[in-house]
Amino acid sequence: MKRLAPSILSADFSKLGEEAEAVERAGARLLHIDVMDGHFVPNLTIGPAVMKSLIGRTALPFDVHLMISDPDRYAPLFVTEQTEFITVHAEACLHLHRTLQSVRGLGVKAGVALNPATPLSTVEYVLEMADLVLIMSVNPGFGGQSFIPSSLKKVRELAALRDREGYSFEIEIDGGVGTGNIGEISAAGVDIAVAGSAVYGAEDVDAAVRRLLTGMNEAASEHPAV
Ligand code: DX5
Ligand code: ZN
Repeated sequence: MKRLAPSILSADFSKLGEEAEAVERAGARLLHIDVMDGHFVPNLTIGPAVMKSLIGRTALPFDVHLMISDPDRYAPLFVTEQTEFITVHAEACLHLHRTLQSVRGLGVKAGVALNPATPLSTVEYVLEMADLVLIMSVNPGFGGQSFIPSSLKKVRELAALRDREGYSFEIEIDGGVGTGNIGEISAAGVDIAVAGSAVYGAEDVDAAVRRLLTGMNEAASEHPAV
């Protein structure tokens, strides 16, 4: 089942609980948590305390995206009973295989993210250690940027590689996702679409989530093979 993961980066931080509840009610199935350290990316966002404040406010599983330089050190702080994925950036890990192994060892699913300029070959030999591969479709750091079209090619290649080799990781895309491109993104083979400004920047958050889900699932039924 394809899932939409609204990113709270674009939510109103003064009422984060309500913002999470709103997307859950509308049919989202994951909550994307963007963690930035001002070092790996030129922005600072939230840490584990803010994420943990949402436990009990929403039942949505957390999809933690660590845009930080030292994921080995900080990943354990994001483990909760509600954490489904902890995703690290391939570019930030000197020993990526070991890092993915340690994340799984924490009892959560391990994800690996690739920046737009990073080739798929970077992760080719660790794919059996990954539960999720996150294709960045913007340069990480900020919400509201434009989708980089070459990311779709990367998704198609990754989906083909997964089929060929029989891997079971999910494919996620993050950055510049909206109603205008969600169909194409879904048809390319994406299982989880992150959307920040397209959800929380919308006048009607509920309607925005429903529109994105419709676009995602219509494309999936037109392309049953992906
Ligand atoms: C960007 C973050 C994204 C961001 C997406 O660095 O990783 O998750 O919230 O925002 P939109 O959907 O607005 O591009
Ligand atoms: Zn993200």
